[in-house]
Amino acid sequence: MKSLFKTAAVIGFAVAALTTTALTPARADDVKLGFVVKQPEEPWFQDEWKFADQAAKEKGFTVVKIGAEDGEKALAAIDNLGAQGAKGLVICTPDVKLGPALVARAKANNLKLMTVDDQLVDGEGKPLSDVPHMGISASKIGEQVGQAIVDEAKKRGWDLKTVGMIHVSYDQLPTAKDRVDGATKVLEAAGLPAANVFDAPQAKTDTESALNASTTVLNAHPDITHWVAAGLNDEAALGAARASEAVNITPDSMIAVGIGGADSAINEFKKSQPTGFFATVIISPKRHGYETSLNLYDWVVNGKAPPASVQTSGVLAKRDDYHDVRKSLGIE
Ligand code: GLA
Repeated sequence: MKSLFKTAAVIGFAVAALTTTALTPARADDVKLGFVVKQPEEPWFQDEWKFADQAAKEKGFTVVKIGAEDGEKALAAIDNLGAQGAKGLVICTPDVKLGPALVARAKANNLKLMTVDDQLVDGEGKPLSDVPHMGISASKIGEQVGQAIVDEAKKRGWDLKTVGMIHVSYDQLPTAKDRVDGATKVLEAAGLPAANVFDAPQAKTDTESALNASTTVLNAHPDITHWVAAGLNDEAALGAARASEAVNITPDSMIAVGIGGADSAINEFKKSQPTGFFATVIISPKRHGYETSLNLYDWVVNGKAPPASVQTSGVLAKRDDYHDVRKSLGIE
């Protein structure tokens, strides 16, 4: 009888313990979240990680930072996070078409999934809108790029009819296409002939690929003396600027405007002389790194799902005002 009581007590205790575990939100220091990015060497992504770390420090959770340059690595990163007992991840995927595969893999590993920067798509290229996402307002920011170029070209007294545009493209990524389309639309509306828009398709979204693609365009049109360039990020605009230098187009004949505002752009502004990289639209690594991580944490710990879609804005910055712009955005 005594041992029966004992057994009942033990079972009761175990049930109580289980119930408590199920009902009590996870303690912050138990929570591990992943932050997976497609191009870990790119300063934009390093800034996202920095701000994810800041969120983790404030709330007391752990961020596991993983670089995943291709699909295989992205899927392996999710398995790795699952094996480590992580509860969720934020990802900027190397390939948005992996959407359904990433969703399935996260589910199999019991991980909550959010995307940042590049939104996942299904087989038909439709956004996977049930995965919470934070990206930039791509068309609008592209238009800001286009407007900055138009304003500077006017200031320099250029006739847009004679200007060539290096249209650095990466069309398999919808946010990239929207950004460059936005810039092109504004330039054409201001008088740049569509026939002067020369596509420079990048193999990857880094400076070297943009440099190679831009060089081909410049070599094909030696008759054009004034150039402008737009692409999806600072690396794209920097590649175009480097290509112009290689064919002796001076900075006063080149207006490349990037998107990002991380060290890729800032290091360029710090050079003693201006270059063809005229300006950047600074976007917010703080929102993309800090806010996504906090949102995911809140989802995991308190069950509060993040907003389905957030589109962040950007502010134009040049050599002479980038400190002020960065301060106003809370990133300096
Ligand atoms: C894409 C680009 C990055 C950066 C982010 C911002 O992922 O590849 O360089 O511009 O968008 O959302």
